[in-house]
Amino acid sequence: MKLFVDSADLTEIETLAAWGVLKGVTTNPSLLNQVEGDEVSIYRRICELVDGPISAEVVVEGRDEMIAEGRRLAAIHPNIVVKLPTSAEGLRATSVLAADGISVNMTLCFTAPQALLAASAGARYVSPFVGRYDDIGNDGIAALREVVETLWGFESEVEVLAASIRNPIHVIEAAKMGADIATIPPKVFHQMLMHPLTDIGLDKFNADAAARRARLGG
Ligand code: E4P
Repeated sequence: MKLFVDSADLTEIETLAAWGVLKGVTTNPSLLNQVEGDEVSIYRRICELVDGPISAEVVVEGRDEMIAEGRRLAAIHPNIVVKLPTSAEGLRATSVLAADGISVNMTLCFTAPQALLAASAGARYVSPFVGRYDDIGNDGIAALREVVETLWGFESEVEVLAASIRNPIHVIEAAKMGADIATIPPKVFHQMLMHPLTDIGLDKFNADAAARRARLGG
């Protein structure tokens, strides 16, 4: 499973890119709202930092407006993926943009029927939201599994991008069930790396190496 970061924070993206683990980035209007600067420059910088699909979300309503905005976003960089909502207008715009050769990520997907429609309209990525489904008392991981199973062997190339990830357990469940991608908030990347036994072990190794150097000199 490929790891994407779910962020528009350039410092965080740069840090995680340097770990060598990032295969792509997703953004959304709420994440962009947390950072300063103009949107096009932010997308361009993200494309410099990470060589992979970079999702940029369309925030207009209506098929024609979505198509125009999608084309504008796609023209920023060849790695830009246009993010559209899983709605009737979103499906209509996806089918046109996909026919133009523009990659679309259908977002705000919660169920397998929605995912099947998104894939059938030509979406290159379908993003089921795990955490937000949990938030309303449903089982987001079970819903993600339904999507993964539904799109197994789908006729065209479509990848399931597990979104709205809230913790490392979500990431591992997504990987075990065979999701293609998980888009992960920076905070969760740091949680994935942390383990107290790693820190304790490192301190002990460093202390023993220093003791040996002190004893033997050098
Ligand atoms: C996906 O592409 C979305 O940007 C994102 O995963 C939403 O996550 P949230 O529910 O934590 O806002």
